[in-house]
Amino acid sequence: MTILVTGSAGFIGANFVLDWLAQSDEPVVSLDKLTYAGNRQNLASLECDPRHCFVHGDIGDTALVAELLAGHQPRAVLNFAAESHVDRSIDGPEDFIQTNIVGTFRLLEAVKAYWQTLASADGEAFRFLHVSTDEVYGSLSPSDAAFTESTAYQPNSPYSASKAASDHLVRAYFHTYGLPVLTTNCSNNYGPYHFPEKLIPLVIHNALAGQPLPVYGDGQQIRDWLYVTDHCSAIRRVLAAGRLGETYNVGGCNEKSNLDVVRSICDLLDELQPRQSCAPVGASNLTDGPASSYRSLIRFVKDRPGHDRRYAIDASKLARELGWEPAQTFESGIRQTVRWYLDNQDWVTHITSGAYRDWMSKHYS
Ligand code: NAD
Ligand code: DAU
Repeated sequence: MTILVTGSAGFIGANFVLDWLAQSDEPVVSLDKLTYAGNRQNLASLECDPRHCFVHGDIGDTALVAELLAGHQPRAVLNFAAESHVDRSIDGPEDFIQTNIVGTFRLLEAVKAYWQTLASADGEAFRFLHVSTDEVYGSLSPSDAAFTESTAYQPNSPYSASKAASDHLVRAYFHTYGLPVLTTNCSNNYGPYHFPEKLIPLVIHNALAGQPLPVYGDGQQIRDWLYVTDHCSAIRRVLAAGRLGETYNVGGCNEKSNLDVVRSICDLLDELQPRQSCAPVGASNLTDGPASSYRSLIRFVKDRPGHDRRYAIDASKLARELGWEPAQTFESGIRQTVRWYLDNQDWVTHITSGAYRDWMSKHYS
């Protein structure tokens, strides 16, 4: 028994592999292209673990994937690999089309060919689990009901459009070829190993460096936050007991405005690591606390083009059918997250070098 996990050196994939091997001895084969977002250090604790095998490669490399499938004979493939940052998809969509659409297509082709070689019991037990996002559903107004699995797809960014396309391909491989697939659509994750281009780790990183905390537009956009290990437990549950061809929404019932999230992080940092220097970082467009508070670093900046106003997930199908519920509240999860970043500054330093700095100065200038 083995599983193959793609995108395992990224934020959620790494948390998933670490959690999996903390709870089970079933081996994991990891496949990751190690883009700017992939970091082998995330899996450093597994370096000498015989249950883990890391392979550097692309989900779109059909020959490599076929070789891995034939060689390791996994009982499941879990696809986390993707280009995942909305702002980068606006800046340059090409990589998103290549990995999220073409890559998923090629992965499906290789998995289908492998699955068709399996003996009937193994073929029946086999699963392809595709990790997707709530962004495929588009944007909600404040009074709209939360997204359910039957909400129509209305992706608004090149990222969400590419994820929507991949979801449709996965669905088509079930209906056309009978490939035993499962899809999860999750809300915003946060937690350890989150790359600091995304809101929560970026704010923690900038605050500790005394840099401005950029809030897009009016900061009133709403996201539904889920601690990453709760996403991992949902995926394990869907893999174990999900109905074939079904999609499952995953969310934390933690709707927060971006400004409230940023303020929560500032308040936690004020408590856990009070500011050393209160040097001003340019004119403030917000009077939100004394200079001694991290809140004084908050700056409203130009909005994201086509910025989705609100996401909210109805995860009742997953609760009802599979008995899943999150273990963390936003308050407990964000505290653990801030603590993790304070305790793992070396990890942050390692990844916030050359290419990261280029992106930051280009995007926020
Ligand atoms: P991430 O950007 O941190 O990690 C993506 C990983 O995929 C990286 O390690 C990267 O090297 C790898 N990768 C990229 N292209 C690849 C390719 N062609 N072949 C092999 N590996 C490749 O992303 P994440 O936040 O960990 O997201 C993981 C998955 O979960 C994505 O599919 C994303 O759409 C989905 N998702 C993310 C969130 C979130 O809040 N982060 C929420 C819901 C769903
Ligand atoms: O909803 C799930 C999605 O959540 C995933 O599919 C994506 O892979 C993941 O990146 C995330 O997308 P978002 O665009 O919601 O996440 P991000 O952290 O980039 O932004 C969160 C919110 O904060 C969003 O409304 C934009 C805003 N923001 C973001 C950044 C980077 C800011 O206000 N300032 C910033 O500097």
